[in-house]
Amino acid sequence: MMAIWGGMVPCLLLALFCRLCGAQEPVETVDGNAFLPQSALTDIEFATVNSYRGPGNNDSRSNKELPILLWWSAGLFPHFPGDTERIDCARSSCLVTRNRKVQLYRRTASIIFYGTDFRAYEAPLPRLSHQTWALFHEESPMNNYVLSHGPGIRLFNYTATFRRESDYPLTLQWLPSLEYLLHPPSVSIADKNRWRRAGLAPVLYMQSHCDVPSDRDRYVQELMKYIQVDSYGKCLNNKPLPKHLEDTSTATGEERPFMNFVARYKFHLALENGICPDYMTEKLWRPLHQGCVPIYRGSSSAADWLPNDHSAILVDNFSSPRELADYIKALDENDERYARYLEFKTPRKITNVRLLDELQTREWGVNDMSKPNYLNGFECFVCDHENERLAAERAHRRNPGQHPRPLPKMANNSHMGCPLPSPGYGAIENIDPNDSWLQMWPQDYWQSLDQAEGLESMLRHNESDPGRLWHHIQDMAVRRARGQ
Ligand SMILES: *[C@@H]1O[C@H](CO)[C@@H](O)[C@H](O)[C@H]1NC(C)=O
Ligand SMILES: *[C@@H]1O[C@H](CO)[C@@H](O)[C@H](O)[C@H]1NC(C)=O
Ligand SMILES: *[C@@H]1O[C@H](CO)[C@@H](O)[C@H](O)[C@H]1NC(C)=O
Ligand SMILES: *[C@@H]1O[C@H](CO)[C@@H](O)[C@H](O)[C@H]1NC(C)=O
Ligand SMILES: *[C@@H]1O[C@H](CO)[C@@H](O)[C@H](O)[C@H]1NC(C)=O
Ligand SMILES: *[C@@H]1O[C@H](CO)[C@@H](O)[C@H](O)[C@H]1NC(C)=O
Repeated sequence: MMAIWGGMVPCLLLALFCRLCGAQEPVETVDGNAFLPQSALTDIEFATVNSYRGPGNNDSRSNKELPILLWWSAGLFPHFPGDTERIDCARSSCLVTRNRKVQLYRRTASIIFYGTDFRAYEAPLPRLSHQTWALFHEESPMNNYVLSHGPGIRLFNYTATFRRESDYPLTLQWLPSLEYLLHPPSVSIADKNRWRRAGLAPVLYMQSHCDVPSDRDRYVQELMKYIQVDSYGKCLNNKPLPKHLEDTSTATGEERPFMNFVARYKFHLALENGICPDYMTEKLWRPLHQGCVPIYRGSSSAADWLPNDHSAILVDNFSSPRELADYIKALDENDERYARYLEFKTPRKITNVRLLDELQTREWGVNDMSKPNYLNGFECFVCDHENERLAAERAHRRNPGQHPRPLPKMANNSHMGCPLPSPGYGAIENIDPNDSWLQMWPQDYWQSLDQAEGLESMLRHNESDPGRLWHHIQDMAVRRARGQ
């Protein structure tokens, strides 16, 4: 979450980013099935909405004619003050609101959800046939496994997730810029060797969130049998932090004294809390920034985004912790081979074209006031797509012969699809039945599937009370038991 608020930009700046664009037809939003409840926002409320007319967008409709996007997760509404705002995006305009009164309003075209807060038993029901759902989920897969199951993710028409396959990908959200990778320069190998002789281990581990789906501590514990690891966090702690660094209550991990301290290490264990393709956080990027070699596990496709093909050690490339330990020891003893891992700090050694392209072309910024933050960016993505969909539907209604009905669009497992949590080391059969990881994460994953299927069932039955989720789950279980 830190990144979101860190990158938050008042909506005025959004206009800077709006480009000149084609004239927009007025769009009607009549849907035969939708109804207009008494409690919808009044015209007065719309008339007083803040608005900023962007320089480029030619959408001349008044606020009362615009489609509405509802932020179901009100806490994330990326505008202030006020609950409702006009947004003028690159190609069209919308009203955005966090006022749930508009849920069943026929002009409400789309509902935007924050994945971490999304609960099947609080979903906005009934789902009206003219409304799309949009999912914003940049955080760890562990926060909500409902979204990792087909029946869960398919309920959404638009997604912004860490996966490159998502509609509005946030894959490099934890990497502020190329500069961040290049600076500061790394501590010299001579100095790192001096610290080694003074007693520092080759490998640093610093983790205080221990019971996580990736089960990283089980791996580190095994690794520690074969190589010295200094562990300063709450998990597998074997060393106290130096006194001057002890107050970490408000630390972000980017303070100078702290950075100077960890930068002395040759290798950092960089293990994500959840395993999923393209889920990469500061755990990967920060060691590169500090000039240390990450020993990484998290995204199975992390190599696609690294500065070059020798800037990180990938845990999944080794068949056992012991083999990994042998590899690290060999690098620790060979300055030339170790130095190769830090070559990317020389500007021209960042050779990964995918990485360079993505950093250059992404339209949102991280702590960059000249670009919109990704909440506003995604909101505009949804706005422009909804206006296009509505225009296409209107054209179809007018002249079905010439304009085919627009195809439905929905997400699938490639937008999230994180795998069942598996043990960080060893086979699941060999884990003590009382083990806390075993009792928590595999169950959480499968219970999330029940919830996703329960929600799907509620939508199929046009359920209007999301509190009946458990009833639907039970019904499905009974039918399954009967072999139906
Ligand atoms: C937007 O409208 C203005 C004024 O009507 C017009 O001059 C301009 O060409 C339009 N821009 C586009 C991209 O259509
Ligand atoms: C991972 O292993 C493969 C096959 O052994 C090798 O080609 C690749 O360079 C390794 N990648 C990294 C980042 O170590
Ligand atoms: C949105 O997704 C739902 C559920 O998957 C689907 O039934 C509906 O047709 C989609 N709507 C559009 C406009 O694509
Ligand atoms: C899943 O979604 C991706 C990206 O939106 C799309 O390219 C792909 O065809 C979809 N896969 C299936 C099986 O529908
Ligand atoms: C698991 O915990 C229960 C209750 O605390 C205990 O009776 C049992 O012996 C434990 N089982 C194992 C395999 O440790
Ligand atoms: C779904 O339920 C709502 C209210 O509960 C009703 O207005 C609507 O007509 C129903 N839709 C369908 C397709 O049955």
